Amino acid sequence: MRSRITGAGHYLPTRVVTNDDLSKRLPTIDEWIQQRTGIKERRYIEHSGIGASDLAVPASKMALAQAGLEPKDVQAIVFATLSPDVNFPGSACFLQQKLGCGQIPSLDVRNQCSGFLYSLSIADAWIRAGVYQNVLIVGAEVHSTGIDFSEHGRDVTVLFGDGAGAVVLQPTEHPTQGVRSVHLAADGVGAKELWLEAPASMYDPRLTVEMMEQRRHWPKMNGKQVFRWAVDKMPEIARAALSAQGMSPSDVDLFVPHQANMRINQAVAEKLGIPHDRVVHNIERYGNTTAATIPIGISESWKDGKIAEGSRVLMAAFGAGFTWGSAIVEF
Ligand SMILES: CC(C)(COP(=O)(O)OP(=O)(O)OC[C@H]1O[C@@H](n2cnc3c(N)ncnc32)[C@H](O)[C@@H]1OP(=O)(O)O)[C@@H](O)C(=O)NCCC(=O)NCCS
Repeated sequence: MRSRITGAGHYLPTRVVTNDDLSKRLPTIDEWIQQRTGIKERRYIEHSGIGASDLAVPASKMALAQAGLEPKDVQAIVFATLSPDVNFPGSACFLQQKLGCGQIPSLDVRNQCSGFLYSLSIADAWIRAGVYQNVLIVGAEVHSTGIDFSEHGRDVTVLFGDGAGAVVLQPTEHPTQGVRSVHLAADGVGAKELWLEAPASMYDPRLTVEMMEQRRHWPKMNGKQVFRWAVDKMPEIARAALSAQGMSPSDVDLFVPHQANMRINQAVAEKLGIPHDRVVHNIERYGNTTAATIPIGISESWKDGKIAEGSRVLMAAFGAGFTWGSAIVEF
């Protein structure tokens, strides 16, 4: 038995923020952002009070509708996010209540840009072990309330946007269809190369005015280091997935990479030898929505007809931790 993606959904807030809009708030320009990252605009929540679980509700409903399921049919939720609604409990609990699912297990996964692939691995294992049959996987982020709109944070701030994507996983006995493999990896040597340090439980108090003056409550990134690791590790782990399935890049109908930077994805696709027209990109419209990028990419591609019955889709991600992963799914 394998698990199979039977529905996908996505939701982006309606507030469009262009590079020119950002350049009114911090010292940056459209040309710098587009040249370095490919991003033209991103979405932000419309007002305070909207959490990752709120963005996840319409994305989940779209995924459930495609799978022909009602919220009461969901047996477990896996929610990938680095920007949970509140510090605790996890956003999966809020989503469970907002969707009106029963009292089902609801789990948050904190693996940043690789969060969706880590969640897929967990849900796939549950289904293959016969533990649950209908699992909802969500990636959702609200970044716009947690980035530094000053000159000090401009390298990070221009990259990120808000959004949500979801998929439904169910069992199948089809000989080839379904999640064929998921490969995951991590190396904490990069833990401080892309991180948000404070508030931190290892400090007492967790957050001080001095720490805020030192800007330690904003995300920090060593962009060059992240870039180098991503273009090295994403092809490596994608090849591991392909070779585990006896597949070559020419067997891939669609490549859905995490959307961190258009240049990263072009380099990764080139290294793998996957032509441009088989690589999904929406970073120009949404920026980096972290755990949401891959399920948004799957959902949009399915609605656009780029994914159809029998499509073999390769996914790969790299992000904070460092963590990275890949998956091959036949639809
Ligand atoms: C962030 C990133 C686009 C920066 O590109 P880069 O070519 O490495 O740029 P640099 O860091 O060398 O910065 C070049 C200059 O632009 C400046 N700069 C940084 N952010 C800027 C912005 N938003 N607007 C204008 N200038 C900016 C820098 O201050 C630097 O100026 P200096 O040369 O005077 O010091 C790139 O490193 C990247 O994409 N890294 C991966 C990030 C990523 O994927 N993060 C998410 C992981 S999931």
